[in-house]
Amino acid sequence: MAQQLWKGRFTKPVDSRVNDFNSSIRFDARLYREDIAGSMAHAAMLGAQGILSYADTDAILEGLEGILADLDSGALAIDPAAEDIHTFVEQTLTARIGEAGKRLHTGRSRNDQVATDLRLHLRRGMAGLLKQIEELAGVLCGLARQHAGTVMPGYTHLQRAQPVTLGHHLMAYVQMLLRDLGRFDDAIARMNAACPLGSAALAGTTYPIDRAAAARTLGFAGAGENSLDGVSDRDFCIELAAAASICMMHLSRLCEELVLWSSWEFRFIELDDAFTTGSSIMPQKKNPDLPELVRGKTGRVFGDLMALLTVMKGLPLAYNKDMQEDKEAIFDALDTLSLCLTALTPLLASTKVRPEAMRAAAAGGFINATDCADYLAKKGVPFRDAYRITGELVALCIRRGETLETLPLADYRQASGAFAEDVYEAIRLDRCVEGRACAGGPSAESVRRQLRAAEALLAARAKARGEG
Ligand code: ARG
Repeated sequence: MAQQLWKGRFTKPVDSRVNDFNSSIRFDARLYREDIAGSMAHAAMLGAQGILSYADTDAILEGLEGILADLDSGALAIDPAAEDIHTFVEQTLTARIGEAGKRLHTGRSRNDQVATDLRLHLRRGMAGLLKQIEELAGVLCGLARQHAGTVMPGYTHLQRAQPVTLGHHLMAYVQMLLRDLGRFDDAIARMNAACPLGSAALAGTTYPIDRAAAARTLGFAGAGENSLDGVSDRDFCIELAAAASICMMHLSRLCEELVLWSSWEFRFIELDDAFTTGSSIMPQKKNPDLPELVRGKTGRVFGDLMALLTVMKGLPLAYNKDMQEDKEAIFDALDTLSLCLTALTPLLASTKVRPEAMRAAAAGGFINATDCADYLAKKGVPFRDAYRITGELVALCIRRGETLETLPLADYRQASGAFAEDVYEAIRLDRCVEGRACAGGPSAESVRRQLRAAEALLAARAKARGEG
């Protein structure tokens, strides 16, 4: 069985049941690359400061490189009985290079080590996640371009309200995703600002370490200002989980619409067979499992955020073992978001839109009633009167089974002398949408404006990443 790093003071081995309970290797094994990178930066700094001899420093750096290569290639397996990844790497190093390995832990603690490793690990993972969000935004933009002029009902209270375009509706989600990207950017910048390494267990160290140098090597803006905060700050996990929760909430809303829209009641879209499932008993069914699952998994990510907040809320300074719970929560939140994006992006890209069904729904719900009232108001009728007159006309249409488009002019004129033949043009659906050309409105021109801005932003991000 693997040994603990701290066994000196103890007379008995840890009970095997407690061992498993205490161990974090199951979920912190994935930190191995960052643990090794952190150890290499620390060792190089100790060497440069003359705290370690050149010979020891070289042996440590070479040993760590070898461990990294062997873990990457699979030649070395992580021991599931190790207490955590930090223990495993240090013990493997000592087993391989002897005495020098025992000097690596000079002037540091697993407390500043894990706080550093986790930041480095999340930093690396976030690049891919941001790219996934950008890809989904890109697919939404593509659909919005295709449907810049596709008229559909806009809803409030899930009641048909006013005409919009599908392009406009989809661009609303692009706006949400752009904000999500911004939120992640902010959280990542803060996470990368202060390197905890050198905080040691809680109170720094008496060795003449160069914290700024280690921080630079690891790509942080600088070393943290306060050692107690350095080892006990998990704000970065909470911020990322919060950003992930908000992003999941957006995906969940989008998925709720996909579920509604793909139902027989709406029939606005048809999900591709490759992304739907059937029922084991009802042969006619085509179920939107995938968007439902995204909606369902949103709760899980909210749960991860609540777990992190709850773990932290009662902790006195500085490190407490409770904080070991941070990793499963933040990994699950980010992994879940990534998984949902992996499924949702191709599902959307393959979704078939049924513009004729959207238009039919738009034509059937008196959603041009506001435009009819606006028509009267523009002819000088006070809006409140225009509103009442139009309401009465709608009631008349419902009684007679007509729409505002089919109601004879005589009926209009009986309601108000301000109506003339041109009312039919004013309430034409396309006209109602195209008339809403104000900034941020649903007209095709406005959608194209939104697209230009969003796509420029996405292109700038891809360029900053070194693509395109
Ligand atoms: N596995 C621990 C964690 O994830 C590493 C830090 C352990 N520190 C300690 N003082 N026991 O939090």
